[in-house]
Formats: sequence, C-alpha cells, structure tokens
Amino acid sequence: MLSHEDNELVTRITPGTPMGQAMRRYWIPALLAREIAEPDSPPVRVRLLGEDLLAFRDSAGRIGLVDEYCPHRRASLFFGRNEDRGLRCVYHGWKFDVAGTCTDMMNEPEEHDFKHKVRLTAYPVCEQGGIVWAYLGPVEHMPPRPKFAWTEAPETHRHITKVIQECNWLQGLEGGIDTSHAPIMHRLLSETSTRGGFKPSNPFVRGKAPKLVVDITDYGYQYAGIRPLGDAEMHIRTYHFVLPFHQIRPSRAESGIPTIAGHAWVPIDDETTMVYNWAYSPNAPLTDTDRLERGLGNGPADVDPSTFRSMANRGNNYRLDRGVQRRESYTGIDGINVQDRAIQESMGRIVDRSKEHLGPADKAIIQARKMLRQAVKTVQAGGTPDGTGTSYYALYAHEAVLPNGADWRRQVTPEMPAELILQTV
Ligand code: FES
Ligand SMILES: [Fe+2]
Repeated sequence: MLSHEDNELVTRITPGTPMGQAMRRYWIPALLAREIAEPDSPPVRVRLLGEDLLAFRDSAGRIGLVDEYCPHRRASLFFGRNEDRGLRCVYHGWKFDVAGTCTDMMNEPEEHDFKHKVRLTAYPVCEQGGIVWAYLGPVEHMPPRPKFAWTEAPETHRHITKVIQECNWLQGLEGGIDTSHAPIMHRLLSETSTRGGFKPSNPFVRGKAPKLVVDITDYGYQYAGIRPLGDAEMHIRTYHFVLPFHQIRPSRAESGIPTIAGHAWVPIDDETTMVYNWAYSPNAPLTDTDRLERGLGNGPADVDPSTFRSMANRGNNYRLDRGVQRRESYTGIDGINVQDRAIQESMGRIVDRSKEHLGPADKAIIQARKMLRQAVKTVQAGGTPDGTGTSYYALYAHEAVLPNGADWRRQVTPEMPAELILQTV
C-alpha cells in the first residue's frame, strides 16, 4: 500500500508537481509520426502531462510541438494555417515557426510590430521509431535521444498503435509490470478458441504461481517470473521496466512470429493516459494480419483511428459477454489489452493505494513505486534521475522453459551484462 500522500506524489504529473517535474526529465512519446506525415499537413492536438499542445510539420519537414494557444489573445492555433514554414493564427495573422519564434504580425503596421518580444512555448522534439518524442524539461538536462531496440527496428518489422485509457498512467504501468495476473486474466478456457489469450496448454498457464526475481539496474529493472512446471522444469518470462513508464516483454504476433513487445503509458493528464503499443519482430517482417492486432484489441477494428478511443469501453462494459466468460475466456471480454484497460479503469481514475493488500507477487510493482519516488527525490535534490542514460538501448525480453536449477540469466538474458545488475531482490 501507499499512504495517501505518497499516492498523490507518484501519480500526479501536471506542471509544478514533484512527479511532473521528474517525468519532464525524460523523452516522452508525444504522438505517432504518421499523424503529421506530410509537410504543411494539419496541426494535431496533443495533450501531454496536463499541457495543451499542438504538433505540426512545417514546409521543410521540421516538427514543432508548441503551446496550443496563441500568445496574442489566446486563440487556439489548432484552427491556424500551416503554411510557408510556420503556423499562422487565423484570428489576427500572427505566425510562428517550429521553434516558437514569431515571424510575422499581420495586424500591426510594420513600424509598430513587436514580434521579437513575443514567443510561443515550443518544446524540443525528435522523431525516432515512428514516434515523435518530446522533452518538456529544462534544456540543460536533456538526456540522450530515446533509442530502444524497438525504435531502431525497420518499419517492415515494427508496428505501433496508441489508444486512450481512462485512468491514471501509473495504474496502466502497474498492470504492465504485473506478471502474476497475465496467465490468469488473459487465459482461454478452450484449446480451440480463436480469441486473444493464452491457451490452457501454454506453459505460462500450466505453470504454478510465479516467484519473482527483480534485478535492479540504473534504467529501472529486469524482472523474471519463474513458474514451477511439473517436477523437472520451470517456465521463465523476463520483462523490463524502463523509467518512467516503459514495459518490454516477450510476445508472439498473430501469425505466430516471435516478437518483442511493450507499452508506454504516457500521461495525457492525471486521469487519462495514452497507451502506446509496440511490437517488433527481430527476424521476419510482420504480416498485414499481425498489424490488425485482433488478439490484443488495439487495431483498426477496435480503436477509432482518428480519436484513438476504444470501441469497447466503460460505457458498454467493454462488450463483456457472460456466455463467452462461461465457456471460452476467463473475462468474457475480447482482446488482451481491452481486458487490461477494463480492469485497470475499473479501479477508478486514480486508485486509492492506501486500501491495498500487497503480497510477494506484487514485488515488481512495489519496486517500481520505490524507484519513481527515488526519481522524484533525486530531481528535488538537483540530481539526474535514473533511466536518463543509454543503458536501456539494447534490451530484449525472453520466454523459455528450462530444466529446474538452470542458470537462466546466462541462458535467456545474454545481453544483460552482470555489471548492469546493481542488486537483486
Ligand atoms: S489571437 Fe492569435 S493572432 Fe490574435
Ligand atoms: Fe495484462
């Protein structure tokens, strides 16, 4: 559990809050690059950490991420004209470039204009792996570019979607670093079911309740869920938590190709989250079917491609079917990630963690909360929080069945050098 004060501390991220200040020290996914695919295409509204922003791509292909509201009399620049290397407010014609410099004032005679005195807030951005990332913190503390193994994969092998979740970002993250729920909530009851989920024969489901091993690092941690499987074997699944809100996990595409997948739970504001879902295949290209994400429930049939709202949502009980729940799947809700969103949203917009009863199966969650609180303390003391280096760049995630007592670290996580592991809990 967390005290009311600590719960407030780690969940609230609007400008000026302690966690908000800590989170602004990281590169944050702001939107999909394909939302502003063309030069001079329409600007796109982006609400990020409680700030109303606009993203646009100018005539030269440069990306701007700016305050939504014009500094003249606060009209929304969403209605603006993106033309000739800048965004022009349609109210009185003030124009701004991607850096926020005012380049023209149509309503003032030239001899009176004061454009050099006016700035539109503009944040640094970079395009990496199909995502436009933003940095909302002090420029002198900007970390190296955000490069994950998945952002570096070729587009043919990578797939990214996003969807709005109606609860606080930490609730989403805590679901993503919670291996103990996965083979329970996401299990199928029938071997022949074609719905998304883990079949009864899957060793993830057949394994007994897991023991968790958390290897603490300077980017967050790797953790493994180790499940006894019969007398002689164990099922192991490794994940990474990369500060402040990234998950990396082993997965499999709809076509059966092994993939590495994950999510980033990016706060829109304190009570709403944009979940980025990514997957890449290290070897073969992904198929068109893989990109439909039917089993996960994040694809074009499940999420409105213009609003990023899920069709199955709180208002329709996520299309829960009690007949399916009796016969075919544990929840009766279709889509692994729809199930996650349903349950995480069911806890309320910001769950009251003072009422929880955590056990050893929640060890990874407890550790993530500690690390987030530590990041806040470090920033408050003038330091650099963990996870702003480059040690997460090459991380993978793994799943295997090994003989009991096998050296799983050496066998399944060869890319993790021993010196990266600071402590194991
Ligand atoms: S409000 Fe934008 S130019 Fe006047
Ligand atoms: Fe889940």
